[in-house]
Amino acid sequence: MNKMIEANQEAVENFGKGLSHFNHNFAESGLFTDEKLAQLIERYPREYYMINTMTAQGDKPEWRSGEINNVSGEKVLQALTEGRIWLALRRFDVVCPEYDELVHEAFREMEELQPGLKTFKHNSSMLISSPGARVLYHADIPYVCLFHVRGRKKLWLYDAENKEHLPDRTLEGVILKETEEEIGYEENWDKEASEIVLEPGKALSWQLNAPHRVDNLDGLNVSITTDYFTPYAQKKYGVYYTNGVMRRKFGMSPKSTSTDGLGAYAKCAAALAFKKSGMMSKDERTMVSTFTLDPENIGQIIDIPQNERREIVQL
Ligand SMILES: [Fe+2]
Repeated sequence: MNKMIEANQEAVENFGKGLSHFNHNFAESGLFTDEKLAQLIERYPREYYMINTMTAQGDKPEWRSGEINNVSGEKVLQALTEGRIWLALRRFDVVCPEYDELVHEAFREMEELQPGLKTFKHNSSMLISSPGARVLYHADIPYVCLFHVRGRKKLWLYDAENKEHLPDRTLEGVILKETEEEIGYEENWDKEASEIVLEPGKALSWQLNAPHRVDNLDGLNVSITTDYFTPYAQKKYGVYYTNGVMRRKFGMSPKSTSTDGLGAYAKCAAALAFKKSGMMSKDERTMVSTFTLDPENIGQIIDIPQNERREIVQL
């Protein structure tokens, strides 16, 4: 096989720091056909997938979690093609190492191109979503690289340093896993966002924690999304984690978000201790299934009655 990625100098230099747009050839593996995806869906244990639906593009944002409900892989794909659904098949390392191989090769090549780049804790998911699906405004904890394979989607990327669009308290909440996906968003922020259309064969990574939202444009959308950390990402995580604990548990209002110096070092050590103590875990969000796919009317969903709703357990 040829090289897995092709990146110009700018994309190479920015990877693991800021906006990096480059090419990949994951599709050549043959692992992304309808047939392969249907087989993959059927292999997925409940604790490693999330299926969601959302309000239409432009409508008031609402995001719901659900269940596949024993619908065959082929029919799930059909529902994804015809409905407004978003499926994330998580933890390649446990379920499908053949897909993880593609990602590892891409990262190996990128690290070869940018000496000094160090990435770790890679965690990949397959995202399969409807032509009209969207992902609401949110920020991710680690760096993210999106390898886009099928369909077209548009991303709005916002500046992570803009404290109006992403207040410290909000980012702390994301890092402490208090909120599920969506955070405060106003349409007029779009004026300052970068807009990027992703075509098949394109990969994109961006500034750490930069808020973003996505509208699919056409076709069944298939991408691999890979979370990863760098030493800087790990430090920022530790600083915000501890600032979040100080604000919530000790009534303090931490001002410094610096990732340099002894203060940052101490906060990272404290974050490890806080995490180990489990003191914040009871404040973490829980996710509940509110719908199942309709096995009779493919593309439709069935609401789960309030008293039958169950918490979703993810490992
Ligand atoms: Fe994201």
